[in-house]
Amino acid sequence: MNELDFSGKQILVVGGSSGIGNGIAQAFRGRGARVQVCGTRASASDYSPEEGSHLDGLDYARLDVGDPKAVENFKPSFDRLDVLVLAQGAVIYRRGEFAMDGFRKVLEVNLMSLMACAGKFHDMLTAARGSLIIVSSTAAYHSTKGNPAYNASKTGAMGLTRTLGQAWAEDGIRVNGIAPGLVDTKMTKVTTSNPQRLEGAIERIPLKRLGTPADMAGAALFLASPLSSYIVGQTLIVDGGLIL
Ligand SMILES: NC(=O)c1ccc[n+]([C@@H]2O[C@H](COP(=O)([O-])OP(=O)(O)OC[C@H]3O[C@@H](n4cnc5c(N)ncnc54)[C@H](OP(=O)(O)O)[C@@H]3O)[C@@H](O)[C@H]2O)c1
Repeated sequence: MNELDFSGKQILVVGGSSGIGNGIAQAFRGRGARVQVCGTRASASDYSPEEGSHLDGLDYARLDVGDPKAVENFKPSFDRLDVLVLAQGAVIYRRGEFAMDGFRKVLEVNLMSLMACAGKFHDMLTAARGSLIIVSSTAAYHSTKGNPAYNASKTGAMGLTRTLGQAWAEDGIRVNGIAPGLVDTKMTKVTTSNPQRLEGAIERIPLKRLGTPADMAGAALFLASPLSSYIVGQTLIVDGGLIL
């Protein structure tokens, strides 16, 4: 038996249009799954590989999770769901998260939408005895001075993972999470495009390199597979040792 063969499985990756979610989506596709991804833009042709978007072989649908009604009204293109990955995430720089509209906006996308999406697909995941994977962040383990909303949302995501893990175990759904360290995506360009900041960041990572979406995908495949059959409610830190 190959536990990492996802042939015949249906996966949905919210936030799968780019970066970490996209790497996770392609990893499942590479192991036989049918994968739908969601992002904020109108169509797949609005994304480019230069921004970390590789949509070949994936089914794209627009879904802005910052709008609760959009989540409610979202019509998936499948009627069975084996794995739901919630990788959506937003951050506001330049102290924008200290103003309440910025704080609310980030919480809506990074935390409220997790519950909305999880709830929407609960019954399909129950029917498939499936798994839910929530992408939080190592920011859940320490302060992030300029980003109070990002921090609160990611800490909340970890708590939600624990609690849904406990609550939905009896429904046959395994809920777990991934806490990435510093991964090269369009979200982290503010660090990675500045040579001095990049050098400082890499210096602090014991493995001496940034993480890649493929590094995160390894953890997602594991958490969705029978190899992790007795793991529930945990958030795996995947950070090259950053927060050790
Ligand atoms: N990169 C890191 O170092 C790092 C570290 C820790 C945690 N994370 C987390 O990893 C996840 C993925 O981030 P990333 O680094 O891969 O950045 P990214 O490339 O910008 O990906 C973010 C994803 O979230 C989607 N998204 C953002 N706002 C949305 C909204 N309102 N509705 C629906 N989708 C929305 C984006 O869609 P569009 O493509 O349409 O914008 C994209 O698919 C996030 O939860 C992030 O917080 C990242």
